Amino acid sequence: MCEYVVMADRRIKLRRVSGTLGAEVLGARLRELDDETFGAIHQALLENEVLFFRDSGLDDEAQMALAHRFGSPSVFPLLKLMGATGPSFQVIEDGPESPNEADYWHTDVTWTPEPPKVALLRAGIVPAVGGDTMWGSMTNAYDALSPTMQGLIAGLEVVHDNESFIAAAARKMGDSPETTKLMNELRDAYPAVTHPLVRTHPETGRRALLWGGDFMRRIAGMSPAESDTLLKFLGRHLEQSRFHCRWSWEPGDLAIWDERSTVHQVVNDHFPQRRSVHRCVVDGDRPFFDPQRAAG
Ligand SMILES: [Fe+2]
Repeated sequence: MCEYVVMADRRIKLRRVSGTLGAEVLGARLRELDDETFGAIHQALLENEVLFFRDSGLDDEAQMALAHRFGSPSVFPLLKLMGATGPSFQVIEDGPESPNEADYWHTDVTWTPEPPKVALLRAGIVPAVGGDTMWGSMTNAYDALSPTMQGLIAGLEVVHDNESFIAAAARKMGDSPETTKLMNELRDAYPAVTHPLVRTHPETGRRALLWGGDFMRRIAGMSPAESDTLLKFLGRHLEQSRFHCRWSWEPGDLAIWDERSTVHQVVNDHFPQRRSVHRCVVDGDRPFFDPQRAAG
């Protein structure tokens, strides 16, 4: 046992995967989690921000059942618009004809008023080489800023919209009157929304950058030049490897991450090999910034 393996609970062990965030959970039988073990996993998630389970032993149904332990699995906005009422489960496959488009730092669907709380992703087809996923700790990225910069950005609001999502979805669905109609409906159903640039984590009280990547349009109350400059700086800041961890997938691996304190991206170096992942997310709350709460 090395110093990076720690007993988190009498039932699970954690093996840290980087110095900043991420831990592999050892010894958890995900199909038969009692409340005590689930509580330990939940606590480990809050502390490590991303958890990994090698060879999880889950199928789609069991993955969704596990998502239910964290809250209400989400109905994806586009599917809701198309009439879906039950929780959504997505198998995302990319290959020669559909390169992966999630290869930039982002948090999922920040263009909704209440972005997800937790995401669960399980590897299906794993390419022979490449196709890792990376996560970044937005609590650590915030903490690493100078007190002056922290003071400058705390309380700022950022406008997020779904234009980049619509462009990508329209490309995938193909140009047709039906696609145009659906995309216009999506635009109407989910108008631009404002979120704090620094959010207070509702469970830990820690402060984190809320980073939506291409979903972020501008910082409210700033000129375009001011907003661009500040967002570019923060974008470069969070790209530093000291805030990251990385996971090399094997088939059946499961990752669970806290969407409220992390960003993620696919490392798109497997193209044109095939890669598939099975994904569901759990509903979150409206992000907020509490100036009185600064637990660190
Ligand atoms: Fe994503």
